[in-house]
Amino acid sequence: MGATIARLLLAQGYRVTVWNRTGAKAEMLAREGAQVASSPAEAVAASALVVVCVHDHKATREILQADGVAAAISGRVLVQMTTTSPQEAKDTEAWAREHGADYLDGAIQVAPDQMAQPDTTILVSGTGEAYQRSEKFLKVLGGNVTYLGENAALAATMDLATLSYVYGAILGFMHGARIGESQGLDLESYGAIVAAMSPGFGEFLKHESGVIRSSNYAVSQSPLKISVEAVDRILKSTHDMGINDGFPVYASRIFRQADADGLGNEELAALIKVLRKPGRSLEQAA
Ligand SMILES: NC(=O)c1ccc[n+]([C@@H]2O[C@H](COP(=O)([O-])OP(=O)(O)OC[C@H]3O[C@@H](n4cnc5c(N)ncnc54)[C@H](OP(=O)(O)O)[C@@H]3O)[C@@H](O)[C@H]2O)c1
Repeated sequence: MGATIARLLLAQGYRVTVWNRTGAKAEMLAREGAQVASSPAEAVAASALVVVCVHDHKATREILQADGVAAAISGRVLVQMTTTSPQEAKDTEAWAREHGADYLDGAIQVAPDQMAQPDTTILVSGTGEAYQRSEKFLKVLGGNVTYLGENAALAATMDLATLSYVYGAILGFMHGARIGESQGLDLESYGAIVAAMSPGFGEFLKHESGVIRSSNYAVSQSPLKISVEAVDRILKSTHDMGINDGFPVYASRIFRQADADGLGNEELAALIKVLRKPGRSLEQAA
């Protein structure tokens, strides 16, 4: 991802200085016009805007603690493009502030090949000044840069929320693939059908988030009881087919609890009321 960011900036005529732990990878970028720094401190000293995009928070900290980095960072904007947790974002912001730098935390929502598209989503948070100083650069990386506010932890928090959605969808998709392959369905059609459904489903979820925000759970699109029945049907059919039932057992436990709580005639988003309970009450319901 770091190499992709450097390449996109070079293509837009930016002067880019790169450093990478494995020097050979940085040298590849030299052939495309980047300056190669011999140390993290040299890279930091070269530009007013410093972008870090490495494996994780631990790798970031190792780089920031390298000789001369703390002194060189003063007056610069540190843009953290490494995926981190909310607490890690706060810790790096505190480090940046302590050393006189502005801090912006970023959470990239796409793979490297999907960067710099009109719909490329990049979540950022940090001081308004840090955002202003890096906005032009960020817009090179993606057309949908979303500034979430001054609290540096917000981008990482939103990243946890969107990743929860993504991994929930992946689990459901994979269970669907198991249903498909156990019954001889064409999985290419399955993928194509899910892709065709997805934009509309996104709009539906947007509606449901509006319902949660409004706290008005009167049925507006989808009564919860339909989903209770659908998830039970998936579970029963899964048992009939003799395939792994991990996903539908988990899902039906939550939907059945919603039904037991009398939420069936409310909008689907009322499921949040079950999830607001401590986890243990779900275990007891099982
Ligand atoms: N790829 C994606 O689809 C994607 C999407 C969204 C967000 N991101 C985020 O972007 C960040 C980078 O991801 P990636 O896909 O480029 O691959 P990655 O394997 O997560 O990161 C590889 C980079 O981290 C460096 N690195 C690892 N440990 C290090 C250490 N201790 N000290 C210094 N450098 C270290 C590697 O250096 P060497 O070359 O020396 O090994 C390499 O430059 C991650 O936080 C990831 O979550 C990636």
